[in-house]
Amino acid sequence: MSFHPIEQAPARLNRSELAVPGSADQMFEKAAKSDVDVVFLDLEDAVAPDDKARARSNIIQALNDLDWGGKTMSIRINGLDTHYMYRDLVEILEAAGDKLDLIMIPKVGTAADVYAVDMLVTQIEDAKGYKKRIGFEHIIETALGMQNVGEIAKASKRNESLHFGVADYAASTRARTTQIGGVNPNYSVLTDPADDGSRATHWGDMWHHALATMVVAARANGLRPIDGPFGDFQDPEGYKAAANRAATLGCEGKWAIHPSQIALANEVMSPSAADIDRAERILVAMAEAEKAGKGAVSLDGRLIDYASIRQAENLVGKAKQIAAKG
Ligand code: GLV
Ligand code: MG
Repeated sequence: MSFHPIEQAPARLNRSELAVPGSADQMFEKAAKSDVDVVFLDLEDAVAPDDKARARSNIIQALNDLDWGGKTMSIRINGLDTHYMYRDLVEILEAAGDKLDLIMIPKVGTAADVYAVDMLVTQIEDAKGYKKRIGFEHIIETALGMQNVGEIAKASKRNESLHFGVADYAASTRARTTQIGGVNPNYSVLTDPADDGSRATHWGDMWHHALATMVVAARANGLRPIDGPFGDFQDPEGYKAAANRAATLGCEGKWAIHPSQIALANEVMSPSAADIDRAERILVAMAEAEKAGKGAVSLDGRLIDYASIRQAENLVGKAKQIAAKG
């Protein structure tokens, strides 16, 4: 390991994160009763300008009066370039900041953006005498945010997670799509002709590089990488494929923009029984190897070594977190 220590963000289950518009208070009850790990009540892009004030008061009431069943609670504030953002923070934190676990900062572009929000949140927490420190989740969804993702990731002790906001990222980079996430037939490889002249098209994942870059920045700073929205809520298979790609790269969770996506995210982002079984067998095999003075052995015909212990411990740790949630 490097001599540089990586401090890990507080361990929270973040397999699924449900987006609920702050203006849609009729959806709150269902969200509160759902199986989601994290709820973010939105003040930003799912709320029309004329509804911002009503969304704030709905959210204050919901945080104070509704039983959210121990879920992690977050609000997505408006961007720092709007005149809504300061009121989002001041009004909601003053009235219900002690009920809030996280604040989601959209379209974060620089470390200074994080610093500015941190300063304001710190003042409100101090003035109100709140004991619990509110954490930050950042949406990496602009070219600027992606360019500065490493600096953003280490900009505050409050930082807990980075989220890939594929819709705004596409808009910001002017990627050729109007969908929210998913794949694009234009991002494909056409094979050279075979002997019989036939050619095959292999679809690629146009978001691979962006997501992988964000995962590295998150992990290098002890944060949770979370994959963002998948817009087509009538395509559970497409959603699961996207979630599986994200999980394979190291993401711990994915957004749900519809309640039907919660179970899909929880399923994909939880280690399977077979994964846990293999992880436990790796730990046993490596403990025996160590006793025998060996650093590497074979299990099921494959080499395992000390790196395998770290992989297995990640899986077993996640399984324990899930079991603790019940
Ligand atoms: C999320 O905010 C996104 O833009 O995808
Ligand atoms: Mg966005």
